[in-house]
Amino acid sequence: MARHLITSAIPYINGIKHLGNLVGSQLPADLYARYLRQRGQEVLFLCATDEHGTPAELAAAKAGKPVAEYCAEMHDVQARIADGFRLSFDHFGRSSSLQNHKLTQAFAGRLADQGLIREVTEEQVYSVADGRFLPDRYIEGTCPNCGFESARGDQCDNCTKQLDPTDLINPHSTISGATELEVRKTKHLYLCQSRLKDELAAWIDSKTDWPILTTSIAKKWLNDGDGLQDRGITRDLDWGIPVRRGDQDWPGMEGKVFYVWFDAPIEYIACAQEWEDAGKGTDWERWWRTDKGADDVRYTQFMGKDNVPFHTLSFPATIMGTGEPWKLVDYIKSFNYLNYDGGQFSTSRGRGVFMDQALEILPPDYWRWWLLSHAPETSDAEFTWEAFQQDVNKDLADVLGNFVSRITKFCRSKFGETVPTGGATGPAEEQLITDLTTRIRAYERHMDAIEVRKAAAELRAIWVLGNEYLQAGAPWTTFKTDPETAAMQVRLGLNLIRIYAVLSAPFIPDASGTMIAAMQTDDNSWPVDVAAALTALPAGHAFAVPENLFRKITDEERAEWSERFAGVREQRQLS
Ligand code: MF3
Ligand code: ZN
Repeated sequence: MARHLITSAIPYINGIKHLGNLVGSQLPADLYARYLRQRGQEVLFLCATDEHGTPAELAAAKAGKPVAEYCAEMHDVQARIADGFRLSFDHFGRSSSLQNHKLTQAFAGRLADQGLIREVTEEQVYSVADGRFLPDRYIEGTCPNCGFESARGDQCDNCTKQLDPTDLINPHSTISGATELEVRKTKHLYLCQSRLKDELAAWIDSKTDWPILTTSIAKKWLNDGDGLQDRGITRDLDWGIPVRRGDQDWPGMEGKVFYVWFDAPIEYIACAQEWEDAGKGTDWERWWRTDKGADDVRYTQFMGKDNVPFHTLSFPATIMGTGEPWKLVDYIKSFNYLNYDGGQFSTSRGRGVFMDQALEILPPDYWRWWLLSHAPETSDAEFTWEAFQQDVNKDLADVLGNFVSRITKFCRSKFGETVPTGGATGPAEEQLITDLTTRIRAYERHMDAIEVRKAAAELRAIWVLGNEYLQAGAPWTTFKTDPETAAMQVRLGLNLIRIYAVLSAPFIPDASGTMIAAMQTDDNSWPVDVAAALTALPAGHAFAVPENLFRKITDEERAEWSERFAGVREQRQLS
């Protein structure tokens, strides 16, 4: 048995995420965690909310709440929605936890001791009326590049150019609107990651099995130099982790906090401490310290492509720089974007389906199945209501749902609600076992390799095999002339339902639970030997006909939803 540490990129606290965010990190991470647990591996699956930075402060101000209160509430909202999607985190932590405060300060202290932090005096915009510096999104003005009038201090949303607050023309404070701004000197800490370039390059070069999407982004940043410039790790904000050197004050850094991208990935580690402190497990160091057993751990991270530079360069630099035996990631699974109906999902314009809305209109399995089977692995993917309706109706209702309902109902009407006895298998069953074995082995290979789309396609093909068998064997006809053979076919069909429940659980856990419950068994063992697995439910075993597993999406619903989620007209209220 191996041990697997799995983390999903931790979502920002401000607002509810859309389906594109979900399929780019949390959902595939959950698929993998569920699969490995089923295969008997020890898994620690962690996620958290990313709570610091200007977006959190601004969202709280907009909601008219103190930022700590806003974050606590939004954390609970996100946790509830994650449950709704059946995301099986062992712990869903918070980057604002006490554990992360202490650990982030400890990392900074240690990096300073290693000579990897330098103090830099910079010029920054100060608002006299607000009595504070205005970092990033606290300042807006006209973009020097394209003339857009509400460019932010860190980036122009119109032309995407990265900006410095001092670049803006006619700048003003987004807190008070004040234009009485001046440039003042302020000191910040920089992490000297450029000095770790060789070590990082060698480490990335050693990862020959990583997805091309991951390594191509990492190498581009590494070689452009841009990604490995020394990086400011402090900000002039109130909300965040106070800058301290371990447990000591940091002279000259009073009133400053660490930059959100410095403390967020450290939360992956702090989250394991939170997990232990919450009494959910013991010995977090066994997962994170190579001197405490984590050498045996395989660590896999899931994220969207925009997060790759931080996980391949900045965070590893933070870890390596300490010179301490922290576990480094073994495999980074990254995703392209999911687009929405010919454009992009847009939080500000309320365009596309957000996680809470998705659960209002359909149960989680429908979304899980569609999103995972269309995961944007090799290129961007697109959600359209037509495709969603068509695939859900076909794969879930016609193929899987129909198989389960036909077998169980036919059995009930002819043999009663117990697995029928009698009859002997023949060449058709031999062939089915051969085909199933081939496909199940392929399914396992794709799941082990986290090839999400290929795994989904294989699972679908496994469901189809059952339908084809049933169609060819036609027990409803056979029954009239050869009831014994029909009994054997139905017995095999009922056993297939159990096998489908087990194999499908990582994708559609609720339907899987319904199938297992209907088969009235607690045998959810993986079908390693398919012939044996097809006899797990013996003749005479009682079962129940389940409720319809999946309903079809109607044309009216499709039309209504595509209208409802088109956005633009109405600004979506977050929180
Ligand atoms: N909150 C970031 C995002 O949604 C991801 C942070 S991942 C971590 O893009 F590594 F920083 F934790
Ligand atoms: Zn611009």
